[in-house]
Amino acid sequence: MAKHVHICRDPEALASHARDWLVENIDRHSRESDTPFSIALSGGSTPKRLYQLLGELPSGRIPWSNVLLLWGDERNVPPDHHDSNFRMVRESLLDQIEIPAENVLAVPQPGGSAAEAAQQYEQVLRSRVPKSASGLLQVNAVLLGIGDDVHTASLFPGTAALQENQRWVVENWVEKFDTWRITLTAAALNAAKDVVFLISGEGKRDALSTLWHGPVDPVMYPAQLIQPHSGNLWFMLDRSAVGDTAMPDQVKVDRMA
Ligand code: 6PG
Repeated sequence: MAKHVHICRDPEALASHARDWLVENIDRHSRESDTPFSIALSGGSTPKRLYQLLGELPSGRIPWSNVLLLWGDERNVPPDHHDSNFRMVRESLLDQIEIPAENVLAVPQPGGSAAEAAQQYEQVLRSRVPKSASGLLQVNAVLLGIGDDVHTASLFPGTAALQENQRWVVENWVEKFDTWRITLTAAALNAAKDVVFLISGEGKRDALSTLWHGPVDPVMYPAQLIQPHSGNLWFMLDRSAVGDTAMPDQVKVDRMA
């Protein structure tokens, strides 16, 4: 696993850089493979600008007919609910692009039984997303955020999903929010070819520092579970998120314009 840190001057530069990185990877994949390029989208607010910038690209710049969009996690609410990650992506990206409906792999029927939604979503991913030689889900690019509590996707501190190492998608009870989430497991996320943490703002500085330099305690700090088996790990950050935090060991650091 190669680790890369890209530091951009501000949130807009970060979103532009992440867009360019994704476009470059989709282009390379399109040249080298006849399989679709799969992206597991992150929820929350940080990636919104990236999604908007992807949606603003000239028509045809991204071959969306050869891209599969899936969600790294989803809140257990209907897709038109203001908390829905699907709704956030629809408003910031899907409404701006021409992508075949069958390429949008949203969590089926969230808002009812989280267990059923998780089970159905795993079946969808198993049937639509290419697998590695060892039969693992192999998403080309996973986008992740990080919470103040060092959660990522819907892998929250002390929750049952952290212990799952067979299933790709699970329902996860999150006591602090008194709600169910549907989330890819660390095992599924770590099978990806590229895993990208997109982290912006001074408010994330402590979480990033704990992720990099804190006590190794993945149950307390679940983002520490993200260690791609053979893929690359990317930290795409703005300067505010980094502050004077020391770089982790064994990373390639690039400070973007
Ligand atoms: C979600 C995300 C979650 C998010 C972090 C950061 O469903 O909310 O998957 O893991 O990435 O909580 O959220 P912000 O980008 O809003 O700070």
